[in-house]
Amino acid sequence: MKKILFIFLGTLALFGCSNNEDEYVKIPTSITLTNPSNFPKIAYDLSKNPLTEEGIALGKELFYEGKLSSSNIVSCGFCHVQASAFTHHGHTVSHGVDSSVGFRNAQPIQNLAYFNEFNWDGSAIHLDLHPIIPITSDFEMGETIPSVLAKLSADVKYTQLFEEAFGDQEINSERMLKALSQFMITMISASSKYDKVVRNEENTAFTESETAGLKTFENKCASCHSGALFTDKSYRNNGIPFNSKFPQEEGRKRVSGFADDFYKFKVPSLRNVEISFPYMHDGRFRTLEAVLDFYTDGMTENGGIVDASLRKIDGSLGIDLSAEEKTNLIAFLKTLTDNTFLNDKRFAEF
Ligand code: HEC
Ligand code: HEC
Repeated sequence: MKKILFIFLGTLALFGCSNNEDEYVKIPTSITLTNPSNFPKIAYDLSKNPLTEEGIALGKELFYEGKLSSSNIVSCGFCHVQASAFTHHGHTVSHGVDSSVGFRNAQPIQNLAYFNEFNWDGSAIHLDLHPIIPITSDFEMGETIPSVLAKLSADVKYTQLFEEAFGDQEINSERMLKALSQFMITMISASSKYDKVVRNEENTAFTESETAGLKTFENKCASCHSGALFTDKSYRNNGIPFNSKFPQEEGRKRVSGFADDFYKFKVPSLRNVEISFPYMHDGRFRTLEAVLDFYTDGMTENGGIVDASLRKIDGSLGIDLSAEEKTNLIAFLKTLTDNTFLNDKRFAEF
């Protein structure tokens, strides 16, 4: 009954009272997400997890909460650092509790509301379910969900925050995961120079080099890194040499089981790519120059099926780029840096 009243009053009033006379429950304040005009539709089903000020605030607290890990130190924000577009600066592959080492490079947390599949291989198929992987992974947070819930329940800060977000003090995994999603959904990066040019804002224009870079990008990169998100969301084998340091890595095949998916990885978004180094699923390249040198000269057969679009007429692998095209491409890629997002206090730990 209380729940029904809670939902019913949610859109109508700030305060609703429960059927218990002396218990007043403050109704969370709903938040409407504004979708940037150059962006696609939001993929996340917000009707199942409506955004509220209190839910987002709880999600942020949880994102920076060390208690989600067995060491009580490693929070989500430990590996997803704002200044590096929420990647793990300086780490090729992730380092978690007790200095354990994984085999993948931390991805940025940005624009996740527009995706239905997560991780380099798409192993998480809903944003709400994703955090279970890092929390329980030995390489990341090394915890169990019941233990996390017990730690949070013993902390009055959280009983209060959960009550504010969900109407009562119950702390359960669904609420924890929904709050984390609410926070991550608000993390939209859409204020780069590129966006301002595309939306005709603030009299912003590309330089000559950036314009030339965009042309090259459209001709040689945008078949995979396409659209406003700079990814077509597919899994592709881009001819990255097999890394024998991590023989367990199989890319998308780990999820699908199909041999043809060996060493296919999710086409990454290139937003904020200037500062999200190191690059690729294993963080093997430190600079954009190194990435472009790979695209011209470094592709090899890697045990899987390299994307047909990367094969030249003579059958060899690679994308032809002159030195000038490389310089211009990098100038263009840097227009995707979004300093508003990288400095947005709403997402900052402190
Ligand atoms: C020890 C470092 C580490 C910690 C701690 C960590 N992550 Fe990650 N995160 C990673 C790595 C590495 C990947 C890529 C994983 C893969 O592809 O298998 C990733 C990927 C993700 C993605 C997928 C992004 C995309 O574009 O598909 C999300 C979402 C995410 N992390 C959220 C979280 C949340 C929420 C927490 C806390 C509950 C968390 N992470 C804790 C390292 C970490
Ligand atoms: C056939 C599809 C395809 C084409 C064409 C393509 N890429 Fe990629 N790109 C990928 C895939 C897949 C990855 C991830 C591979 C991995 O992690 O091993 C990637 C990774 C990257 C990365 C690393 C991003 C990160 O966050 O780690 C950059 C930068 C990049 N590509 C830029 C470019 C540029 C510039 C071009 C054009 C010259 C281009 N790509 C063409 C599929 C493609």
